[in-house]
Amino acid sequence: MKKVTKIISLMALVGCVAISVTSCQKHDSNSPGVEFMPDMYRSPSLESNLFDVVKNADGTFDTVPSNRKPVAGTIARGYMPYAFANTAEGYELSATMRNPIERNDKNVKEGEQLYGKFCTHCHGATGEGDGLVGGKLPGAPPSYKTVLKTLPEGKIFHSITYGKGLMGAHASQLSQEERWKVTLYVQKLQGNDAPAVATVATDSTAVTTK
Ligand code: HEC
Repeated sequence: MKKVTKIISLMALVGCVAISVTSCQKHDSNSPGVEFMPDMYRSPSLESNLFDVVKNADGTFDTVPSNRKPVAGTIARGYMPYAFANTAEGYELSATMRNPIERNDKNVKEGEQLYGKFCTHCHGATGEGDGLVGGKLPGAPPSYKTVLKTLPEGKIFHSITYGKGLMGAHASQLSQEERWKVTLYVQKLQGNDAPAVATVATDSTAVTTK
């Protein structure tokens, strides 16, 4: 019993010391104190849906909405346009693209996670087209391992971007980088993810290629 009293009085002492240390700081009446999630207090002051005053050529002034369409041909910051159109020709041309993302464990793992969130329910975990939703579609998604075995990476990327048949476009859910990472994982399911094997030069004039 004595031990318990000792522990309690020790805890009380520690508490007192802690309070006295923290409460003796200089008081600033303007300080809002500790802010939990400061972005909730201080939202970015973007003034959309307001009006700008513009000067006309004849010297008069007009009030126009500040939300205006971007000038034709401009590209939003951080947005990467995609070169190929959603046409049969664009689809064929997309086969010429190469994946800019390196095939390493980290990127394939990220691709796998994205695949689990966006594709498994249709294509199935192993890519056989037997996901819970995929199996209910009038035409189940084809197997990566057999039917789509030879589908090149560019076309995989293109079809994820625009969708194909019953599959919707994923460009608004996944950035280009994410789509390329998913492509790495689709290739793994195709069985086409073996790293390029360097061919060993057999004579002194041959060039070793990657
Ligand atoms: C709503 C179900 C559904 C979802 C979700 C879905 N797919 Fe599909 N996918 C399909 C169907 C159905 C096809 C067959 C389309 C066709 O050829 O008509 C297909 C086809 C494909 C093809 C072959 C395209 C080609 O060029 O022949 C690839 C690659 C593919 N999907 C990858 C993905 C990836 C990666 C995801 C996730 C980011 C995904 N799909 C999400 C249903 C889906």
